Amino acid sequence: MSLLNIVILAAGKGKRMNSDKPKVLHPLAGYPLLQHVLDTAIQFAPDKTCVVYGHGGEAVPQAMAKYAASFVLQEQQLGTGHAVQQALPHLDGDLTLVLYGDVPLIQSATLEKMFAQPDALTLLTIHLANPSGYGRIVRDATGNICCIVEEKDATDEQRAIREINTGIIAAPTKLLGEWLARLKNQNAQGEYYLTDIVAMAVEQGITVHTVHPKHEWEVIGINSKVQLAELERIWQHEQARELLVKGVTLADPARIDVRGKLECGRDVQIDVGCIFEGKVYLGDGVRVGAYSIIKNSQIATGTYIEPYSYFDQAKVGENCRIGPYARLRPGSNLHQDVHIGNFVEVKNSEIAAGSKANHLSYVGDSSIGSRVNIGAGTITCNYDGANKHRTIIEDDAFIGSNTQLVAPVKIGRGATIGAGSTITRDAPENTLTLTRAKQITVPGWQRPVKTVKGVK
Ligand code: UD1
Ligand code: CA
Repeated sequence: MSLLNIVILAAGKGKRMNSDKPKVLHPLAGYPLLQHVLDTAIQFAPDKTCVVYGHGGEAVPQAMAKYAASFVLQEQQLGTGHAVQQALPHLDGDLTLVLYGDVPLIQSATLEKMFAQPDALTLLTIHLANPSGYGRIVRDATGNICCIVEEKDATDEQRAIREINTGIIAAPTKLLGEWLARLKNQNAQGEYYLTDIVAMAVEQGITVHTVHPKHEWEVIGINSKVQLAELERIWQHEQARELLVKGVTLADPARIDVRGKLECGRDVQIDVGCIFEGKVYLGDGVRVGAYSIIKNSQIATGTYIEPYSYFDQAKVGENCRIGPYARLRPGSNLHQDVHIGNFVEVKNSEIAAGSKANHLSYVGDSSIGSRVNIGAGTITCNYDGANKHRTIIEDDAFIGSNTQLVAPVKIGRGATIGAGSTITRDAPENTLTLTRAKQITVPGWQRPVKTVKGVK
């Protein structure tokens, strides 16, 4: 295959966003607009990827530093043709595809079609009920393309054309360079229009070929927060629909937000108001209760998550029961049949099969064996103000309610810790350890009486 170059135009100010942040860095479904475009672009393994940036200074290259792209500054925004010109010195492929940093949802299946005729100039066009604001595709009587005319330069007759230029084009790189060198800015906006290359191609007898996106939302551009919010809903609806098609049960497809990639096994059920961020996997039969938030986590088969639970970089085994109101922080690794109940926080801890922490506990930097019972209000005191220490609780231990385990500390296999203990030394296996002051009853003690103002 011929070598591919991709240019992404991202220099515009985005004045109507009314924001100090460059437009292309505003997030859609959790990621900057430009990142969506780059993620789609790199699927084609282009030989060169070039982002043309302008407003916002180095913020754009900095935010996208993880991509193997070159970033070219367009100091003054003199038009789309001028923008592509800035990228030219970085291009050496046979074919160049031009994308837009503010048209985030273009899909690879559509772009694939743009490569079918590498010797032609290929335009991505679409018919719109309301074409206003866009460049119009002007065709002759036989349907061949003549040129693109921008709305501000169009005649009334041309304005009636409903086929519009999405802006996305693919052109042989060498020809593109020749055409761009000939652009003039004698038009209504005084800009160097990329679209003027179409008439040049026609004049030269180069085939101008059009392809269309599968969905209209693929070519929607963002200019304002209103449009951003609208496209966010369209995209969330689309992702919800895909989940439904794959067999996931959604209590309400209008009340789920996927900001990343959610993969589900069979017969997964998701109640309303849940948010999924980054890479999330839900195994067969997983049920997610209302208003749960799951980020970069894996939940294995049969696990039931009760409402209002929060997961961040957690791994949960099969048939666990989590929540309501549980918080699993990074490094939580739960094996099968673990129960984590309300107001229990787990961090950087491994909890083996069948163990339970059902109420009001903090389990941090711990290794917990199988069938351990962690009583209500148990706290692993993992931090001494300077360093973190580990707590080890071996299989079948029973930790009484309201126990503090001051790490580093180890609770032996089958040990029982009496409720209300503060454990600072290792507790031996199969025996009861407790630290508790003796209970006393004070004879003759009287409850204080409320003093009344003014009365002595
Ligand atoms: C452009 C097309 C129009 C098409 C429309 C689709 C031209 C002349 N017109 O019009 O046919 O229907 O897009 O949305 O190409 N940009 C730069 N540097 C510049 C100018 C623009 O990077 O100097 C970037 C902008 O950030 C934006 C994109 O190019 O992402 C399009 O620019 P914009 O000014 O919005 O083009 P339109 O006038 O909408
Ligand atoms: Ca413009």
